[in-house]
Amino acid sequence: MKETNPKRYTVTSALPYANGALHLGHLAGAYLPADIYVRYMRLMGKDILWVCGSDEHGAAITIRSKKEGVSPQEIIDKYHNLNKDTFEKLGISFDFYHRTSEQIHHETAQEIFLKLLEKGDQFDEKVTEQYYDEKFQQFLADRYIIGTCPKCGFEEAFGDQCEQCGSDLSPLELVNPRSTMSGEKPTLKETKHWFFKLDSHEKWLKEWVKEGTIDGKFHHNPKTWKNHVIGQCMSWLDTGLMPRSITRDLDWGIKVPVEGAEGKVLYVWFDAPIGYISATKQWALDNGKKWKDYWQSDDTQLIHFIGKDNIVFHCIVFPAMLKAHGDYNLPINVPANQFLNFEGRKFSKSRGWGIEQHVYLEKFKDFPNKEDALRYALTKIMPENKDSDFTWDEFIAAHDNELVANFGNFVNRVVVLTNKYFDGAIPSLDSVDWSEKHKEVLDLIKKYQKEIETFHFRNAANVLMEISSYGNTYLQDVSPWSIFKTDPEDPLIAESMFVANQIVALLAMVSKPFLPFTSDKLQGILNLNPVQNGDLATAIEKLGNNQPIIKGGHQIGKPTLLFAKIHDRKDSSRLELINAQRAELEAILAAEVPKHESVKAQTSFDDFTKMDMRTGTIVKAEKMKKAKKLLQLEVDLGFETRTIVSGIAEYFSPEDVIGQQVVVLCNLAPRKLRGVESNGMILMAENEKGELAFVNAKDGFGNGFVVR
Ligand code: MF3
Ligand code: ZN
Repeated sequence: MKETNPKRYTVTSALPYANGALHLGHLAGAYLPADIYVRYMRLMGKDILWVCGSDEHGAAITIRSKKEGVSPQEIIDKYHNLNKDTFEKLGISFDFYHRTSEQIHHETAQEIFLKLLEKGDQFDEKVTEQYYDEKFQQFLADRYIIGTCPKCGFEEAFGDQCEQCGSDLSPLELVNPRSTMSGEKPTLKETKHWFFKLDSHEKWLKEWVKEGTIDGKFHHNPKTWKNHVIGQCMSWLDTGLMPRSITRDLDWGIKVPVEGAEGKVLYVWFDAPIGYISATKQWALDNGKKWKDYWQSDDTQLIHFIGKDNIVFHCIVFPAMLKAHGDYNLPINVPANQFLNFEGRKFSKSRGWGIEQHVYLEKFKDFPNKEDALRYALTKIMPENKDSDFTWDEFIAAHDNELVANFGNFVNRVVVLTNKYFDGAIPSLDSVDWSEKHKEVLDLIKKYQKEIETFHFRNAANVLMEISSYGNTYLQDVSPWSIFKTDPEDPLIAESMFVANQIVALLAMVSKPFLPFTSDKLQGILNLNPVQNGDLATAIEKLGNNQPIIKGGHQIGKPTLLFAKIHDRKDSSRLELINAQRAELEAILAAEVPKHESVKAQTSFDDFTKMDMRTGTIVKAEKMKKAKKLLQLEVDLGFETRTIVSGIAEYFSPEDVIGQQVVVLCNLAPRKLRGVESNGMILMAENEKGELAFVNAKDGFGNGFVVR
């Protein structure tokens, strides 16, 4: 693999399941970043293919169809169309949006399965016992069995994980298992499955992830990968990989193409990533291209855009499949994003928390430039390296302070002034070495390029605004309107309008990846054709050679509105729309019944009296080194002062708690925490949101008195 200047790029975005609508978190996770990247690469004239599509198999779709009594086909058709259409409306510019129910995909997945099977050393066939729902006549995927967690006693733990204590589980460990389909106790039945021997790939995967080499040969520079991606991979690899079953007992999916496998299909995570390949095949057929160029050529770089929940599949399982096959490229980067929250909480369809893409478009149908307003707000807070939070406050701030006050304002001033002073004709400027004089613009564009090429889209959006700030400051410094008052013939007026129009023309280009609708409008205002592939590369060359982007004498159009301010004194409709969204959230919060933990098993009065609890006051508090959660406290108990280490540092800072009255369990056996002996425990109450409150007597009660 070459490090720089490959001939072409293949970019993929996670195939969304076709059993639900997508929300803003999905958009910010795997689609918007890829769209920015791909649009930019197209502007640079690169040969780049971006594929995506619907993931239409899997237990979730099958089971939903059985529960609701509709065919899987009906479900996938509905959501495939909805998601495809919504992406298009938001300017998400896939080259091809495929679906895994297509024949060509089934064939491709089966071929790859058979090829790995032929190798002889990639799969193990094993007969195991699995839970079966007699009523629905169906083997149960792990997620569809619930029961009591053997580790913490939580009664609603899933077959693969307990959401209460976070333990990984297997369905056989659950106490009192129940099927989520029939609600009844499932039975155990024997069944045969194919296991992909992931463990046999562990060694090279470690080298590949850590060093970016394969058998010592350069593949990619691991420094270009995000830390959290490498971190997650290494934690999987260090725990040790295990063979993974890649078949399932289901009647919906891709048939396992061997004898004796009736009623079995390929596991959805085996077939879905192959969807990238089959999408490429279909695209190539439709466009007279060779699909292998995009998957099997040394001169092609493969990049996967995904959310963090898909890291293991794209950085470990799928690469292992591709390597086992032997003919395919491995990704040179997987710039996964973390999660986006919504106004401080996880998106949740059942609780109505968050907003779906198509719902946003409906609700904001009268909001000017709603698509770019959303794209920009999401880019600003993209969870590139850690989880982030969407808030309406920040949506408004990004819109009004940046898109309106900076970008829109600059463009508008230039177009208005050009019309006013020159009847809309760009003045010619042959004598001034303008791009040399405004080298900052080219420097900013280079900075913008570097940020996008290294997947730092938040930074790149900021640079975009810096370019228009540069334009605003320049206009303000020259102030052609004041010069005009004293000498309308002053050549500085023409020069400033020439330069300012060049910056607007550049903005129309560099804004395209982020604000494609705005870019098109801007080209229209400038009376230029929509930005084409390769245009940015040409423009950068022109800048270097002091050639104009937009020639003297060119006639531009009239100003039209790019963005309409939300905080607008004359028109409150946009603010009202957003306030209505906020009100919906408040109503959800108000209607919430707090969830209470179930009461623990009985205890005796004697056991209760064994505990010595006393009133006290915190007199000293400090943070502990290298322990984010811990505070080291000195507590006055009246008869003595004790050192107690308490896990409250995430909620309270030392200043907050000095002077705080508390209740202490003082006969708790001492424990060493981070080298400090802790003598007792401070009683706290914790609510359903995980917020903590001190339990105490009323102010001035006094220290050292027994609680009973
Ligand atoms: N459908 C999966 C999800 O939404 C993603 C599949 S990505 C692919 O989490 F690589 F398998 F296609
Ligand atoms: Zn548990």
